[in-house]
Amino acid sequence: MSHKIAVIVGSLRRESWTRKIAQATIAQAPRELKCSFVEIGDLDMYNEDLEAKVPAAWTRFRDAVRQVDGVLFATPEYNRSIPGCLKNAVDVGSRPAGKSVWDGKPAAVISVTPYKLGAFGANQALRQTFVFLNMPAMQTPEAYIGSAGGMFDTDGKLKNEETRAFLEKFAAAFADWVTTLKR
Ligand code: FNR
Repeated sequence: MSHKIAVIVGSLRRESWTRKIAQATIAQAPRELKCSFVEIGDLDMYNEDLEAKVPAAWTRFRDAVRQVDGVLFATPEYNRSIPGCLKNAVDVGSRPAGKSVWDGKPAAVISVTPYKLGAFGANQALRQTFVFLNMPAMQTPEAYIGSAGGMFDTDGKLKNEETRAFLEKFAAAFADWVTTLKR
């Protein structure tokens, strides 16, 4: 059975470590996961007034998430929480009330920091939104990727074998999680 997965990255930075980790995870994922990035950088800031004339970027985003079987979030940590762009995407997908595109979709989180310590706050903050969004989150393995800056060669390929093996295990567990929960 194959599963469509939306991969959402909470960094808009061109050379984002988080995006590189997301790419490395996709590269390790079992074949049944059909992963594609759903971009969030063009989403207008959430304002309920705009629901009267929904911005094209919101419609594109909502449609893209609506048709997947699961969502893989990869996020940096900003001030021990998630970046505003990612929270905005969560909010855009959650409305109008009763039409949330997240409802019931299995989710997993990878949080990333170039520092030795970090990423825990972002991971937990995002998981907190899953409660109200009714997104069943994979509990383990938890993915807090530290020291991400030193993990890639000049071609952007992951050179850290321990992390590669971990991301492979993580992706396999997520495939099982989506298989279990698919409606
Ligand atoms: C950060 N950074 C950061 N890192 C961390 O581990 N914990 C934190 O709380 C914060 N807070 C924070 C706030 C703001 C506003 C910025 C811009 C940055 C550093 C952050 O981890 C670093 O910039 C990463 O490179 C961001 O991820 P990407 O863009 O490389 O994916």
